[in-house]
Amino acid sequence: MKGGKALLLYFSGTGHTKALVEVLKRRLENELDFSVLLHSIEDKGPDPDLGQFDLVVFSYPIHAFNMPLNYERYLRKLNLKKGKAYAILKQSGEPHFLNDASSRTLLRRIRKSGKPFYGEWHLLMPYNIHFRYPDALVKRLLSGDRMLLDAFLKRLERGVLVPAKENVLLSPIGWLFRIERLAGPLAAPGFEADEKKCISCLRCVRSCPRGNIRQEEGRIRFGRDCLLCMRCAFHCPTDAIRMGLFDRWKVNGPYPLAKIEGSSPEEDERFLQEHCWFLSLFPKWERYAETARETAFSGTISKE
Ligand SMILES: Cc1cc2nc3c(=O)[nH]c(=O)nc-3n(C[C@H](O)[C@H](O)[C@H](O)COP(=O)(O)O)c2cc1C
Ligand code: SF4
Ligand code: SF4
Repeated sequence: MKGGKALLLYFSGTGHTKALVEVLKRRLENELDFSVLLHSIEDKGPDPDLGQFDLVVFSYPIHAFNMPLNYERYLRKLNLKKGKAYAILKQSGEPHFLNDASSRTLLRRIRKSGKPFYGEWHLLMPYNIHFRYPDALVKRLLSGDRMLLDAFLKRLERGVLVPAKENVLLSPIGWLFRIERLAGPLAAPGFEADEKKCISCLRCVRSCPRGNIRQEEGRIRFGRDCLLCMRCAFHCPTDAIRMGLFDRWKVNGPYPLAKIEGSSPEEDERFLQEHCWFLSLFPKWERYAETARETAFSGTISKE
C-alpha cells in the first residue's frame, strides 16, 4: 500500500503514544507517500469519518493489560465496517506477554469487520508508573521501536496482511485486570498539590483529560473522575503533585527522547542490580523486534 490516506487515532496520557504516532506520521508521509491525519480522541470537533481513509491505525498506551477506559469508550462509538484497512500500534513500559490482552476486543471487532489488517505492533517506551528508566535502557527501547516501525512500513508497502486474531487464553486475564480502573476513582481524591511547591501555573487543571482537577480558593483539588493516566504528575513543572498511594510509583519530568536517542548513555549499575528480574524480560522483546524486521524485509514473506 502506498500513497493513500491514513488516520492515526490515538490517546496519550503522558505523551509517549503521541511521540510515537508523530514519528509514524512522518515516516508514512516521507517513505510511503501517505497523507496522514493525526487525531487524538481528546481533539475538539467532529470525530473523523473512518470511511475517508485507506488505513486507520489505532494507537494507545497499555494500562493494566488493557487499553485506557476513555480510549475503549471512544472506540465503541466507531463503526469499523466503514474503514478500509486497519492496524494497531500499542505501547507500554514493559514487554510482558499479558500486555497482549489489551487489544482483545479491538481485534475481535476488526476480524468481524472483515477488513484487511496490517498487524498489531507492540512498541515500548519508558515507564511512568513504577520507576524512572535510565537512559541506556530507554535507548534500547527506542532502537527496538525503530525496527518495529521499519517492519510495519515494509509490510504495508508490500501489502502483507495478517489475521486479526486474539489470544483467547489471555482475554479472561485482561478482563480481570479491568478492576484496576477502580484505582483512579478511589485514589484520586487523595492526590494533592504541595502548597510550598505549587506555582499555580494551572497546567494540571488545563491538561487533565477528564477535567478532574480544579483550583478552589487558590488550592489545587482533585475529584474522583481519574483515569490514572499520570499526566498531571508527570508534567508538573515543580513536581508538586503527591499521588497518595501511587506517589512512590510516579515519575516527574518527560524523557528527552530525541537527546537520548543521539547520545551514548552509560549503563546505570544500581538500576541493573535492583531490577535484574524486570530487565530479563527485555531481550525477548528485542528478538521479536529484530525478527519482525528481518521477516518484513526478507524475500520470503508470506501471510501468517
Ligand atoms: C495506570 C497505568 C497502568 C499501566 N499498566 C501497564 C501495564 O499493564 N503494562 C505495561 O507494560 N505498562 C503499563 N503502564 C505503563 C504505560 O503503558 C507506559 O508508561 C506508556 O508509555 C504510557 O504512554 P502515554 O505516555 O502515551 O500515556 C501503565 C501506566 C499507567 C499510568
Ligand atoms: S501543574 Fe503543578 S505547579 Fe502547576 S498548578 Fe498544577 S500542581 Fe501547581
Ligand atoms: S487527575 Fe491526573 S492522573 Fe487523573 S486523569 Fe487527570 S491528569 Fe490523569
